[in-house]
Amino acid sequence: MLEQSIQELESGSQRRIQSASSLEELEAVRVEVLGRKGALDQFFKQMGKLPPDERSRAGKILNSCKQALEGALEARKQAFADAALRAKLDREWLDLTLPAPGPRRGHLHPITRIQRELEELFASLGFTVLDGPEVETEWRNFDALNIPLDHPARDMQDTFWLDGGNLLRTHTSPVQVRGMERLGPPLRMIAPGRVFRNESVDASHEHTFYQLEGMMIDRDVSVAHLLYFMKTLLTAIFKRDVTVRLRPGYFPFVEPGFELDIKCLICGGAGCPVCKQGGWVELLPCGLVNPNVLRMSGIDPEEWNGFAFGLGLTRLVMMRYAIDDIRQLQGGDVRFLEQF
Ligand code: PHE
Repeated sequence: MLEQSIQELESGSQRRIQSASSLEELEAVRVEVLGRKGALDQFFKQMGKLPPDERSRAGKILNSCKQALEGALEARKQAFADAALRAKLDREWLDLTLPAPGPRRGHLHPITRIQRELEELFASLGFTVLDGPEVETEWRNFDALNIPLDHPARDMQDTFWLDGGNLLRTHTSPVQVRGMERLGPPLRMIAPGRVFRNESVDASHEHTFYQLEGMMIDRDVSVAHLLYFMKTLLTAIFKRDVTVRLRPGYFPFVEPGFELDIKCLICGGAGCPVCKQGGWVELLPCGLVNPNVLRMSGIDPEEWNGFAFGLGLTRLVMMRYAIDDIRQLQGGDVRFLEQF
């Protein structure tokens, strides 16, 4: 009798377990059948009243029934969990063909960009790009450029002097001297680089800025050659025809020396705040190389002559991008740099 009831309980419970449609239903079956005071428990209690030989037989049947139902419950629970996971994976899909976000790319500083553009331009005109050290000798920065001992540029105010008599170069012109020493005539060279002056810093003055020096030495070089190269240079920079004029300017290493102005690109010469109403903007100092300079670097001025110019790269970048404060260029402020 008992045996049959147990079998009925087991098969009935199995059906309920297999047809359960939720974890709650499963749990209800578990409590009812396997829980404390559940149906199986009742059978275990009845079993205690049986004679010993029947008791052990009933015990075996009860235990195997219990194990079978526990196993079935566990398997159904697992099936529910698997189905839930599958449903979740079906909902959230991953497109493995989508391009990944690339690494953030930096970009070149505007001064570096202009410098490289000009290097390419001059290389195409047969000029060699030379490099010089930022720590220079007094000889190459001043003496060999015919800058007399009492010239104001040597003043403690303008030059960062270093221990041992060397200095931080105040312009890129000492690379002219290096070019003449190393390569000799005929010579076409440019030298971009960083220069230093002991200035108090404000919106238009920095202690550190960039220049691009140029020098050409050959036979019968004239102001016409100088003008040709300067106009080519400026047209490349500003991407349009520019009108230039030369004014006399004094630099000990050139004779004659000039200040080259361009007709203001903003107002076309009519006068505006950029050209301070003058219609012209001072852009680059230049001139024919002073014979003394050639001689001091071992070049015979009877046979050779040349021109030289010094372009302010920092100034140029400021004009090209309408930057009104020079301190921004070296300030390292990412918000400023990200605009380029
Ligand atoms: N070296 C000069 C300066 O920094 C500029 C210059 C270069 C002038 C070459 C004439 C020729 O002021």
